[in-house]
Amino acid sequence: LLPAHIYPNRRNSLGVDLAHPPEMEELRKCLALWRKEHPVARPTLRADIDEELVEIHAPQTGKVVGEYMIASQRDIDLAIARATAAQPAWDALGGEERAQLLIKASDLLEENTPRFMDLCRREAGKTMMDAVLEVREAVDFLRYYACEARMLFGAPQPLPGPTGEQNLLRLHGRGVFATISPWNFPLAIFMGPTAAALAAGNTVLAKPAEQTPLIAALAIDLCHEAGIPKDVLQLVPGDGKVGAALTSDPRIAGVAFTGSTGTAHAINRSLAAREGAIGTLIAETGGQNALIVDSSALPEQVTRDVVASAFQSAGQRCSALRVLYLQEDIADEMLAMIKGAFEALVIGDPADLATDVGPVIDAEARDKLEAHVAEMQESGFPVWRRELPEFCKHGHYVAPTIIELGSILDLDEEHFGPILHVVRYPASALGSVIDAINATGYGLTLGLHSRIDETRRFVEAHARVGNFYVNRNQIGAVVGSQPFGGEGLSGTGPKAGGPHYVTRFATERVTTIDT
Ligand code: SER
Repeated sequence: LLPAHIYPNRRNSLGVDLAHPPEMEELRKCLALWRKEHPVARPTLRADIDEELVEIHAPQTGKVVGEYMIASQRDIDLAIARATAAQPAWDALGGEERAQLLIKASDLLEENTPRFMDLCRREAGKTMMDAVLEVREAVDFLRYYACEARMLFGAPQPLPGPTGEQNLLRLHGRGVFATISPWNFPLAIFMGPTAAALAAGNTVLAKPAEQTPLIAALAIDLCHEAGIPKDVLQLVPGDGKVGAALTSDPRIAGVAFTGSTGTAHAINRSLAAREGAIGTLIAETGGQNALIVDSSALPEQVTRDVVASAFQSAGQRCSALRVLYLQEDIADEMLAMIKGAFEALVIGDPADLATDVGPVIDAEARDKLEAHVAEMQESGFPVWRRELPEFCKHGHYVAPTIIELGSILDLDEEHFGPILHVVRYPASALGSVIDAINATGYGLTLGLHSRIDETRRFVEAHARVGNFYVNRNQIGAVVGSQPFGGEGLSGTGPKAGGPHYVTRFATERVTTIDT
């Protein structure tokens, strides 16, 4: 069998072509069907009959979208007990059977694209384009990891026996995995680690972000409809306390977490404090992503890629551009072009196809971003901001902002929103620019716009980052083509959507038979 990344039957999802009027018309009709839906997310298995529901509000309007229930400690205990009991049979099912169920789930997700798009817009404030990409990526993860299940969890792999014995290597699930996912990719990064854990033969307790449990609940329902048993895959909605209850329980074999570096450290400490089996942690965390532009770059291309990398998804991607390094002799000209494109960004309702920048996720995120801009202004750094249209006062909007700094090290932390920082550097200082980027401790994405091969080779050799993009934007890694994830403060690896991901969710067993 071929490795999944070149598996001939695997194709990335095509999504919806928003520029194709007949497809758009069909999509609009389907979207209208779901607009008034009022979903409620509950734990898959319930031990408690008390039901206190928490409202979910649309980031752009504050209107109620649906409600969810926070899993109680009794719900969590029941979930872990049932997932533990179900794991051996799920593992014994084998890679091929699990792959078929994951493929069926991917088909159901894809068929429900308009319903997910509607929820991505209302619950997470995603633009139409981001919502299409979100569903595609989730479908791609399911199919990619299904191929991995087939390839890695079928027949045992024979290994050489120099002394005449037979050696066989088999992969198995580790046990019960908790997947703890973020609100910025409420479907793709909710489904990705969950699908990988299932592919490897683990049962899964999936905890979505407290901001986006409704999208997650729909995804779990469709997985059950596809035939994945309810004990094998359970939704465990809740806040940070639910996450902490899961990670501190020694019956949880591993945790796949995507979110802040601080929370990853807290999970690591919680796993280390437990008695019994040593828990596995897979963490994908933040970034302080830079883009370096030298005088050989093409200005129009740079402008397009900077604006997409910094402001698409309102800057709420871990891959998003935070600090743009411009070679000083082209900086004024380049900045003028970037500001032109920045002034043309459409800030609007995510339902509107023309919208480039929608809201940020909630009031807390908005307030943190505003506090950062205010602090930069008070410190005397030059700041340019867009004016927010009147209707934005009903939602959690942050005006797209450009701030000029002296160095990436002027920033204390990642600022997760539509804020682009700009630094000028002399051509002779490329080495110190890379040193400063490395000194942040993060290592997620890095962009370079340069036509000089020697420069590319230099940056490639010295930058400690997971994803390096040359002469293009630095967001939207494609499953199977651009395995995604960083190092240092940005995460543990392995990379999502890459050939080493699923094996981290598995344990290896070797049988040696003497003849
Ligand atoms: N995988 C996403 C991207 O590449 C980031 O989370 O943009």
